[in-house]
Amino acid sequence: MHMRTQIGIVGAGPAGLMLSHLLHLQGIESIIVENRGREYCENRVRAGVLEQGTADLLVESGVGERMQREGLIHHGIYLRFRGRDHHLNFPELTGGKSIMVYSQHDVVKDLIAARLKDGGQIFFDVKDVAVQDITSSAPRIRFQSAGESREIVCDYIAGCDGFHGICRPSIPAGVLRVFEKIYPFAWLGILAQVAPSCEELVYTRHERGFSLLSMRSPDTSRLYLQCDPSEDIEEWPDDRIWNELRLRTAADNGWALKEGPISQKGVTAMRSFLVEPMQYGRLFLMGDAAHIVPPTGAKGLNLAVADVRIFAQAVDLFYKQGRTDLLERYSEICLRRVWKVQRFSWWMTSMLHRSDEGEFSERVHLAELDYVTSSRAASTSLAENYVGLPFDPV
Ligand code: FAD
Ligand code: DHB
Repeated sequence: MHMRTQIGIVGAGPAGLMLSHLLHLQGIESIIVENRGREYCENRVRAGVLEQGTADLLVESGVGERMQREGLIHHGIYLRFRGRDHHLNFPELTGGKSIMVYSQHDVVKDLIAARLKDGGQIFFDVKDVAVQDITSSAPRIRFQSAGESREIVCDYIAGCDGFHGICRPSIPAGVLRVFEKIYPFAWLGILAQVAPSCEELVYTRHERGFSLLSMRSPDTSRLYLQCDPSEDIEEWPDDRIWNELRLRTAADNGWALKEGPISQKGVTAMRSFLVEPMQYGRLFLMGDAAHIVPPTGAKGLNLAVADVRIFAQAVDLFYKQGRTDLLERYSEICLRRVWKVQRFSWWMTSMLHRSDEGEFSERVHLAELDYVTSSRAASTSLAENYVGLPFDPV
């Protein structure tokens, strides 16, 4: 069966869904194909911190209502090292900005509901997705749905299919330049049915390794521990996890870790990765399909939304004024932000994790934390990146 649309989108993660939603508001048609089921997409536990600009975009585009009701506005974070807490007050350091703690899978749920309510087309559970004729003026997405072969002919294809998707590998060898850094550690993450131990996020550097106290709601905590990339989750029964978290987050101010039943656990590898350019012919890559950041700066989801914002503006100019100049500059515009976010995520990661680089490195990272928490200039730099860098006018 053949279909025709303006923008064909591969992947119903935050990037693909947000793009389809923004295009709809601009009067541009799109169809999404997703190889997982709706329920799977709506329950996949991942990120949880939205930059001020991401949260604002959800509200301005009419999909922020539940987030405004259930999300938690945070005005800062704690950095904990040598057993002491240091608070960074974001509004004070950034001229009033803050962050929103709201689960990625809730953003996905809200966007799917909005797309379907507005008559949007999403094919879930598809198989054998392939993109073809990407250098022609009529690129195609082919796939199997409910046992039937289907094809969507489009003007442009948005590759929003994440790091393991098929869009990036469809670009011929030699076109993309790959930049990559693999870290010698990973994160063991848990979701626990217990109230957060602190009203804000706590990033801890400890000689046993990094840990992070985050949350999802007033009665759900999300916690992470630095671990080995080859760590077997089976070797981490709940009491070992709590014990390790207790040791690493110990503080000298009488603070205590709240413990409770663990409902989910997993190990996530950490890498910095990006390709240049983020486009080939009429295939445009956005989000994790084009770049991965280590999670320490909480940037992955936000960066995906930043790409989408640029692409939506670029195709709007194309359809309304016949202009392709912004599409031609898509990659260059996105990459300026991507590299800055790569830098920030790499920097937060290096500063906060224990590595085998030796005692000199260890002391330099502690000095860096000391500097960041004692100099207004240095705390401002962290804060303005954490709440989200401003968008350059395009
Ligand atoms: P994705 O969310 O990956 O969406 C891609 C979509 O494409 C998926 O729905 C996928 O099923 C679909 N797809 C894949 N292949 C195909 C195909 N062939 N055909 C059709 N559809 C396809 N970031 C943080 O900031 N903090 C965190 O704590 C954090 N934790 C993470 C934990 C894990 C396990 C992972 C993998 C990522 C985490 N991230 C985190 C990163 C953040 O979740 C991503 O940056 C964000 O999901 C990017 O959105 P996206 O839409 O680009 O990609
Ligand atoms: C969360 C994840 C992050 O990577 C981070 O830096 C802060 C919070 C979270 O999942 O809550």
